[in-house]
Amino acid sequence: MSGVTKAVRRTVLSVVRRTPVPPTPVPDQAAILASLPVAVVVLSDENRFTYANPAAEQFLGLSVAQLAQLSLADVLPEDSPLFLMIGQLRVGVNSIADHDLAFEGPRMSKTGISVQGTTMPELPGSVLLVLQDSSTVRALDRQIAARNAARSITGMAAILAHEVKNPLSGIRGAAQLLEASVAETDRELTVLIRDEADRIRALVDRMEVFGEKPVTMDAVNIHRVLEHVRRLARNGFAEGLRFSESYDPSLPPVWGNRDQLVQVLLNLVKNASDSLLSGGTQEAEITLMTRYQHGLRLATPTSDSDTRVDLPLLVVVRDNGPGISEDIRPHLFEPFVSSRPSGQGLGLALVAKIIADHGGLIEVESRPGRTEFRLHLPMLAEEDES
Ligand SMILES: Nc1ncnc2c1ncn2[C@@H]1O[C@H](COP(=O)(O)OP(=O)(O)OP(=O)(O)O)[C@@H](O)[C@H]1O
Ligand SMILES: [Mg+2]
Repeated sequence: MSGVTKAVRRTVLSVVRRTPVPPTPVPDQAAILASLPVAVVVLSDENRFTYANPAAEQFLGLSVAQLAQLSLADVLPEDSPLFLMIGQLRVGVNSIADHDLAFEGPRMSKTGISVQGTTMPELPGSVLLVLQDSSTVRALDRQIAARNAARSITGMAAILAHEVKNPLSGIRGAAQLLEASVAETDRELTVLIRDEADRIRALVDRMEVFGEKPVTMDAVNIHRVLEHVRRLARNGFAEGLRFSESYDPSLPPVWGNRDQLVQVLLNLVKNASDSLLSGGTQEAEITLMTRYQHGLRLATPTSDSDTRVDLPLLVVVRDNGPGISEDIRPHLFEPFVSSRPSGQGLGLALVAKIIADHGGLIEVESRPGRTEFRLHLPMLAEEDES
C-alpha cells in the first residue's frame, strides 16, 4: 500500500469514527481531507457511500447528501471492473490499484480513471477508494504514441536496410579503390566519402533494431542485467561517475528478453551519463533501484480492454543532472528527438518500443537535479513456468 493511501486511510478513519483528533502537529485532519485534490470515498460492506470528500463529490458529480442515499451500484453498471476489485479487497487482498478504468453509468461517463483501494481493518467490510486521472494512464498514452511512431520507422528501417545498405557498400568500396589512385590533394575527398558512408551505415544498423523480429522471452534476473550495464558503463562512457544501487534482493525474475533489457538499461544509463557529463553537475550520481510494487495492473495496449497484466517489478534509473529540457518533453519517446549535437534521438524510441513489446510501461519524471525513468515490468507468470 502506498504511503499516501495509508495516510489517507488513517485520516478517514478518524473522521468516520468521529474520534477526537489526536494531538499531532497536523492541524485538522477533516480539513486536510476536505482540501485533498484527489477523490476519496469509503464504501460500507453493502457498497453504500459512507464518506466522500469534496474532491469525490466533484469527481462523481454528486453531493454528500445525495451520495448518502446511494450505493456504488447506483452510480456504476454492475459489470464495472471496480466491483471485481472491491471483491478482491473483501477476500483478503489488502490493497489494489487499477488503471484506465471506464466509469460509464447512468449518472456519469468518464474514462481513463485510476483507482487505488484498500481495506479498513478497523471497519470490517468497508473499503477506501482513491480515484484520480492517473499520470500512469497519461504515460501509457504517450507510450502508445511512441510505439506507433516506432512502428512507422520499422517499415522505413526495412526499406533502408534493403535499398541503402547495398549501394552504400558499393560507394564505400569505390571510394576506397579511388583512394589508391587519386592525387594526394584529392584523397581528402575520398576519405570524406568513406567516412560519411560509414556514418550512414551505422545509422541504418541502429534503425534495423526496430524491425519486428520475434524475440524469445525468459525469466531474467534484472539485478544481473543492471550489474552488467553498470560494468559496461563504468568501463566506457560513464568512467569516473558515481553509481549507487538500491536493490530489492527478493525481487522475482522479470519475464523478458535479457539482451533487449540490457539495451534498454544501457540507453537509460547512457542518457543519464550524457546529461551529467554535459551539465557540470556537482557530485554527479546515477542511482539504480529495484522494488516490488503491489497491485499495479494495466490494460495491455495491444489487447482488448478486458486483458489486464500485473506489472509488479519496478526498475528505476535516476540521475541528479540538469533535467530534460522542456521543449522536447512532449516528444521524448519519439524517434529522432534529441537535444544533443551528436545524438541520433533513437535511444528512448528504442527503449519505449522494447518496453511496450514486453507488455511493460515506462514513466519519466524530471526536474533540475533529479531525472527518473521508471520501468514497470511483468514477472514470470505461474502458467509460463514449465
Ligand atoms: N537523463 C536525462 N537527463 C536529461 N535529458 C535527457 C535524459 N535522458 C534523455 N534526455 C533527453 O532526451 C533526448 C532524447 O534521448 P535519446 O536517448 O532518445 O536520444 P539521444 O541520447 O539524444 O541520442 P541517441 O541515444 O540516439 O544517441 C536527449 O537528447 C536528451 O535531451
Ligand atoms: Mg540516448
